Amino acid sequence: MSKKSLYKLLAVLMLASLILSACGGAAPAQPAATEAPAGKVYTYADMTLCYPQLGAESDWRTANTASFKETAETLGVKLIFSDAQQKQENQISAIRSCIQQGVSVIALPPVVETGWDAVLQEAKDANIPVIVVDRSVSADASMYAAHIGSDMVIEGKRSAEEFNKLLPNGGNILELSGTTGSGAAVGRAKGFREALNANIKILDSQTGNFTRAEGKPVMEAFLKKYAGQIDGVFFHNDDMAIGAVEAIKAAGIKPGELKMVSIDGTRGGFQLMIDGWLQADVECNPLLGPQTMELALKLMNGEAITKEVLTNESVFYPDKAAELLPTRQY
Ligand code: AHR
Repeated sequence: MSKKSLYKLLAVLMLASLILSACGGAAPAQPAATEAPAGKVYTYADMTLCYPQLGAESDWRTANTASFKETAETLGVKLIFSDAQQKQENQISAIRSCIQQGVSVIALPPVVETGWDAVLQEAKDANIPVIVVDRSVSADASMYAAHIGSDMVIEGKRSAEEFNKLLPNGGNILELSGTTGSGAAVGRAKGFREALNANIKILDSQTGNFTRAEGKPVMEAFLKKYAGQIDGVFFHNDDMAIGAVEAIKAAGIKPGELKMVSIDGTRGGFQLMIDGWLQADVECNPLLGPQTMELALKLMNGEAITKEVLTNESVFYPDKAAELLPTRQY
């Protein structure tokens, strides 16, 4: 071949490769998530699941992380796990990295409700389905494939119903709320106010960010500000209740003097019921790994799915706490 024809051939090859890359012609690292090619049925071994966990703020969260890690290991799913340390920007970067890696499915436990539209659109454009896990997002439902988790509004309503029974003649209560702007805190606060009897007054509501460390000082401040006026306390989670009880004990208050209701049903919450501090613990189940991976596989195989999968939950009481504690998984 002459030099001239060789240059021509090279130029044609370079042009072809440029056109291919501009059209996104590079093969994805993982099987395309939404539709399996004809005849191919994906198994868990084909799945790479991205789980940008929001943090490690509570015992609930630790159990949720363990559920995803253990389920992935058992099923042979490749899990890309990260811990965003309660920062939305870290979750967004982790999602972007997962999109670049061409994962099969993204399961997102959103730290707050708003601000997800852009990154959800990026996942959509990359044909990677997103399952919203645990807390909700405010984005339109068309932006994600499904949501698996608890009904936070119902949890708030259940908590209020407990106070209606505990304080039949009314009273003053305080609220230690979860992370500001999170679906869990927004939903619980809403349901609580909808179902609370009119004769029970919420004196104050402050965030303890779902942590023991922040629950304690918030309770200390409440005890100083509302000394002698408090009949009960509503906690958005057990970790804040555990932190707050340290402050309540230090103030010389005895178990049962204040009516207290919390949410989660962790071992720590059960211990508070056994010790007489909590009068009810509203269940919020963190063990969402198995259902999420089952749904992710259905999405990979283009099967029909349920868009909103709500966890079946109940309320725990002190009378059964000692018997149930050894059976609790978290
Ligand atoms: O979103 C679920 C909530 O987040 C749990 O109630 C709480 O413990 C966790 O931090």
